[in-house]
Amino acid sequence: MELNVPDTHGDARGLAKRFPADFVWGVATSAYQIEGATREDGRGDSIWDEFCRRPGAIRDASSGDVACDHYHLYESDLDLIASLGVRAYRFSISWPRVQPLGEGAFSESGFEFYSRLVDGLLRRGIAPHATLYHWDLPQALQSQGGWMNRATIDRFTAYATEVVRRLGGRLASIATHNEPWVVAILGHEAGIFAPGGKDRRIAMQVSHHLLVSHGRAVQAMRAAGCRAPMGIVLNQSPIHPATDSETDHAKARLDDGLIIRWYMDPLLTGSYPADVIEHLGADAPQIQDGDMDAVRQPLDFLGINYYTRSVAATGESKDGCEPRREVTDMGWEVFPAGLSELLRRLHADYDLPPVYIMENGAAYKDALIDGRVADPDRIRYLSSHIAALADALDTGVDVRGYFVWSLLDNFEWADGYSKRFGIVHVDYATQRRTVKDSALWYRDFLIGS
Ligand code: FCB
Repeated sequence: MELNVPDTHGDARGLAKRFPADFVWGVATSAYQIEGATREDGRGDSIWDEFCRRPGAIRDASSGDVACDHYHLYESDLDLIASLGVRAYRFSISWPRVQPLGEGAFSESGFEFYSRLVDGLLRRGIAPHATLYHWDLPQALQSQGGWMNRATIDRFTAYATEVVRRLGGRLASIATHNEPWVVAILGHEAGIFAPGGKDRRIAMQVSHHLLVSHGRAVQAMRAAGCRAPMGIVLNQSPIHPATDSETDHAKARLDDGLIIRWYMDPLLTGSYPADVIEHLGADAPQIQDGDMDAVRQPLDFLGINYYTRSVAATGESKDGCEPRREVTDMGWEVFPAGLSELLRRLHADYDLPPVYIMENGAAYKDALIDGRVADPDRIRYLSSHIAALADALDTGVDVRGYFVWSLLDNFEWADGYSKRFGIVHVDYATQRRTVKDSALWYRDFLIGS
C-alpha cells in the first residue's frame, strides 16, 4: 500500500540514521489486553476478569474476554509484525494461564501457547521480550490478600522460575514487573484498576512486596541457570511544577519521590528515599530483614514506559495553570522533550544499566475509511518521541531499544475499548486487522535503520 503522507518517509529514514545499527526496535502488547480466551484450556481467573465484572469499573462495561482474540489469531499477528519489518516483540505471560491458581499445578496447555508464540517469533527472526507480570494476578491469590500478602512474593518467584525452566533459553529478555507504581497506586489507593483498593497504607506495602518479589524472582531465575537479560519496567515522567510557587515546587519534589525515586532508589541503591518515608509516616511499608538486599539485584536492563510529563499543582494553581497544549485522546499532553529530559536526569542521578523504552505511543480517535486509517497525529507523536530519544543518546545515555505501544488496538484497562493505541487497527466485530498509516511509517523508518 502506498502512503500519501508528504515528507514523513524521507524524514523517517533520516531519523533512523541517528541510531546505532544494533538498536532494538519493537512493538509491545500485554496478555490481558489482547489474548481473549479467558476461559479456555484451563486458564484461571485473574483480578482483571474479576474487576471487569464490577458494575461501573470499566467505562464501556467491557472486559478482556475476547479482546483481539490473539490467543487464536497469534500466527497471523506474528505475520503482521514480520510484515512491518519489526524484529522485536514485547509481550506478557498471563500468570493464571500457565498456573491457574497462582500456586501448585502448572498448565501444560498454557505453557504450550507461549512456547508456540516464542517459537513463532524466533522462526520469523523476531526477538521475544517477555514480561512476567503485566497486572493479571491469579484471582485465587487475591482471595488470600494478593500483593498485600507476603506469601505472594514466594508464589511469584516459583512462577518466574517455572517460566524460565520452560522458556528461558529462548527469550531475548525478561522483565519481572510492568509499572509497579500503577499496580500499587492505581490498583490499591486510587481504586481505578484491579483489584480496586482504596487504602494508601496497603498500596505502599504492596509496592514494597512488588519490589521484593522482583528481586527474589531475579535471584531465583539466575540460580536456575537462566542467562537471559533480566530487568524491570517502570512508568516514569519528569514532574514539572505548575507555577513557580514554593508549594508547587514542593509538590513536584514529593511526586518525584513517590513515582520515580520510590522505585529507582531501592532498585539501584538499596534504600527508600528518606523524604518520602518521612512524608508517609504511618503509611510507610513494613520492611523485613534482607528485603532491601533482595530488591537491589544487579539489573541487566532498566525498562521505561514514557507517555507524557506530569505537572504538579497545588491550591490555586490547580485550576489556574495554563491550559495544556496538544493532548492525545487520553487527555495526556504530547511532550516529547520530557523523554530526553527524563533520561538525562536518570543518567545523571543513577548508575544506570542499559535502558530500553518498553512503551511509548498514543491513543487517537482513528477512523477506518475505505480500508485505510490515516493517523498523522500518531506518526507525529512517534517520530517526535523517537527524535527526543536520539537527543538523549547524543548526550550519552545508554539506551538500547524502543518499543511502540501498541502493535494492536486493544483493551485499555478501565477505558475498555474506547481508546485506540494500536499502529494496527482492530475491528472488534470481525477481528479484522488494518495496518494504520503509522505502522507503514514505522516500517519505512525501520527500513532506514
Ligand atoms: C501503560 C500500560 C499499558 C498500556 C499503556 C497505555 O501504563 O503498561 O498496558 O495500557 O499504559
